[in-house]
Amino acid sequence: MEILRNNESNNNPIVFGVFEEETTVCVDDKLNKNIEVLLKDKLIKLGVGEVNKVYTFGIIEAKEVYVIGLGKKEDYNIVNLAKAAKSVTRKLGDKITVLLDTFVRNLDEKEAVKTFILTMNDYDYKFEECKSKKDETIFDVQIASSKDYSSFIEELFILASAINNTRDLVNKPYNYLNASDLASYANNLVKELDNPNVSIKILNKEEIKKLKMNAFLGVNQGSTDEPKLIHLKYQGKDDFSDPIALIGKGVMFDTGGYSLKQTMNNMKDDMGGSATVLGVFEAAVKNNLKVNLQVVIAATDNRVSGHAYLPDDVLTAMNGKTIEIVSTDAEGRLTLADALTYAQKEGSKRLIDLATLTGAVVVALGDYTTGIFGNDKDMINDIIQNSSNELEHVWELPITEHIRTKVRGSKVADLTNSTGRAMGASGAAAFLEEFVEDGSKWVHLDIAGTAFRTTPSYGEYYGASGVMVKTLYQYLKNLK
Ligand code: BES
Ligand code: MN
Ligand code: ZN
Repeated sequence: MEILRNNESNNNPIVFGVFEEETTVCVDDKLNKNIEVLLKDKLIKLGVGEVNKVYTFGIIEAKEVYVIGLGKKEDYNIVNLAKAAKSVTRKLGDKITVLLDTFVRNLDEKEAVKTFILTMNDYDYKFEECKSKKDETIFDVQIASSKDYSSFIEELFILASAINNTRDLVNKPYNYLNASDLASYANNLVKELDNPNVSIKILNKEEIKKLKMNAFLGVNQGSTDEPKLIHLKYQGKDDFSDPIALIGKGVMFDTGGYSLKQTMNNMKDDMGGSATVLGVFEAAVKNNLKVNLQVVIAATDNRVSGHAYLPDDVLTAMNGKTIEIVSTDAEGRLTLADALTYAQKEGSKRLIDLATLTGAVVVALGDYTTGIFGNDKDMINDIIQNSSNELEHVWELPITEHIRTKVRGSKVADLTNSTGRAMGASGAAAFLEEFVEDGSKWVHLDIAGTAFRTTPSYGEYYGASGVMVKTLYQYLKNLK
């Protein structure tokens, strides 16, 4: 996408929004005066997001304009703006000019511009890496506005491309992206960032063994591919104090292990948490956020073989706690347990983990709502505040004493890795909580339903969503 400075003229199709019953647009430069003339006597009544094509017969330079319904003026809000932005696709033309002012009206300016750009980007996304013929055309959207939003839009483009990278990673099948490939991706990202305040460390199997990350290693036991511990740092402040840890589940493919899944299609998405934290990291560094960060990913696949871990095995985690394996399919929490310990050893007292962790959260909250848990109300509320509600919805679920008791209910070990069906998402969260040290603040986001959507309910592209990159970026940006 490209940005048009105000009043530059070209003959791209022009795209703008109108309210119900409105025949004029509210901006007042010369171009828009002409649009008023064009629409005069044409009562346009469009539902939210509906598009009307109008030929211009030489009244303005552009041969055509696309009018997009915004609904009733008194009902206009960010969600309606997002619905309108969804209609701005390349179907309108490979090159278009959007009159941004007409969409921003009456709303918080920055929130509106952000929603408009990111929604357009979301709907323009496609994953073509595995297609032999790729669509090489560029959707060239020029943004015209009476105000100069260019530096803000540059920031949003960086965020949008980080979101697209997250989606690409999640969409890649296992044979395109195993733990080593993810480590290479992280290495290349750091090279590209080319920032003296960014560093990376990749630990191989031997080094992971030395650290006694045996919960993580247990999951990897059945695989032909090596595990990787991926650790990135970004110092956005004067000294590297109190870094926030972003910990992502990196199960590159989840067969369930010997507790084999009956259906495992789409389980390439089980590294969604790791893709998300890499996206947040990229956007934070490229936009020079003033925060200290570290990303920790314990990357492996979960498979069966003569070497694989078994139900009833007992593993000893990096922090010394022993875990009875009730289900080899409750593997994500094992990898995260050691990643949490590692992040705290590396100096973090604020932890945010993201994971496609439970089927239970999908049943409870579906494809569009992410479950949030944690031990710090302020941090949870802060993240919810930054989630822009309907557009990237987050809902808190509980960790109760009852479920904690169940996690500690193993007859043979300190903990059990599965508490069964009832309260499944909370059981996983309660398990992770066992690896949060006294004095650490911790939030867990279960993105099992939202990271990869299988029901295209609104007719959009489905597959990887890139969900939570935006929310966490905003959270980090707005930290005091
Ligand atoms: N990766 C799955 C969770 C998942 C389910 C992700 C659906 C995306 C979509 C996770 O490793 C898993 O298998 N969880 C089990 C835990 C159970 C055995 C305690 C589950 O939720 O069934
Ligand atoms: Mn599993
Ligand atoms: Zn899993």
